[in-house]
Amino acid sequence: MDFGTPMLEGSRRLMILGGGELGKEIAIEAQRMGVEVVVVDRYDMAPAMHVAHRRYVVDMLNGEALKAIARREKPDAVVTEIEAVNTGALIELEDEGYRIIPNAKAVKTCMNRIELRLLASEQLKLPTTKYAVANSPDEAKRACSDIGYPCLIKPEMSSSGHGHEVAVNPSDVEFKFNEAIKHARGSSRRVIVEEYVDVDRELTVLTYRYMNEDKEVTAVIPPIEHQRPKGVFHYVESWHPSSVNDNIIKTAEDYAVRIVNKLGGLGIFGVEIIITKDGRVLFSEVAPRPHDTGLVTLVSTDINEFQVHVRSALGLPTPQVKVTTPAAAHVILADDENWAPHYTGINEALTIPGVQVRLFGKPNSYRGRRMGIVLATGSTIREAIEKARKAASLIKVRILS
Ligand SMILES: Nc1ncnc2c1ncn2[C@@H]1O[C@H](COP(=O)(O)OP(=O)(O)OP(=O)(O)O)[C@@H](O)[C@H]1O
Ligand SMILES: [Mg+2]
Repeated sequence: MDFGTPMLEGSRRLMILGGGELGKEIAIEAQRMGVEVVVVDRYDMAPAMHVAHRRYVVDMLNGEALKAIARREKPDAVVTEIEAVNTGALIELEDEGYRIIPNAKAVKTCMNRIELRLLASEQLKLPTTKYAVANSPDEAKRACSDIGYPCLIKPEMSSSGHGHEVAVNPSDVEFKFNEAIKHARGSSRRVIVEEYVDVDRELTVLTYRYMNEDKEVTAVIPPIEHQRPKGVFHYVESWHPSSVNDNIIKTAEDYAVRIVNKLGGLGIFGVEIIITKDGRVLFSEVAPRPHDTGLVTLVSTDINEFQVHVRSALGLPTPQVKVTTPAAAHVILADDENWAPHYTGINEALTIPGVQVRLFGKPNSYRGRRMGIVLATGSTIREAIEKARKAASLIKVRILS
């Protein structure tokens, strides 16, 4: 495959739908390889727009807008960075010959918890939490009593733990069902009811599919481990490599390869695995893109997850990714709503050896919004985790008064 020069005739071009922190790193990797970068998001000044050749500010649920932009830009590949994208438009663009990463159907399946769960559990027979689909509070009540309390009720479509509701007894269910629906993306009134398991450890198996000569090949990166305080459903910290035993790693990688091969296409996938306190290794879900817990690969591997994704998307090979050092990542969250947030403590954080700080450059903050990440290397995983935690605790998102 030939490469041209960005902004001149014959350049390779990547279109990224979603300009958040993951999109920004994808854009940077593409830029480094001399690829022209086009970023689309619903708000201006999104992180990836800071490092793109061109940007478009549109609602990505608007299929006509997505198609118009793609037809004008004629990208070599379209990658999605978030789930709130009009998948009908992706399917049409794919039919027109555009390369959607990993493929339009996989994007659609993965954004729907129920479709994805049925594929993993019913078709592939991967072990998962006990679950049932419910269309109404009464059906949810029946599901909870079959599964056993406590139950976790999740909307059919949402991300970052939005609308996850724990029901502890039957009188709880109707309210929790309605709360879950309130936080759902789109108009679906379906939920998935899951057994609320005691999580011991969690893994992300970054699994990627790439072209090697004329064949599609699947490869895995040794698992990343991550942890969330109980009852917190969003990403807090991750580290690499995981210290779980080899049997668990083998099982997790086996699930990952099976689901990713079923979804097909090219690119990296973040396969989420839950290990329960009673020793079960369960498939949880998969994101058809670089994973937030995988931000740690910016320092832990010789080739990070974003570069793997760009290479795969362009039909290029990445035969192997090596973990080069124990490393950890810890998020920097905002406490308040604010325009043009201000950061303190960067100097103190950077006095810790092996620490790097990435601020995403989001134009505004709100409570709980991820604004940056601390990356740390160490001679052990423990040391890296402690450094990342310490550095993150020093950085505060402030309001300029
Ligand atoms: N059945 C369950 N029992 C206990 N904890 C769970 C269960 N399902 C999910 N969790 C916890 O909630 C987290 C988020 O769940 P899940 O990945 O399904 O949601 P999500 O909205 O896709 O979030 P994200 O976008 O962060 O991956 C999991 O990583 C895990 O810590
Ligand atoms: Mg998840």
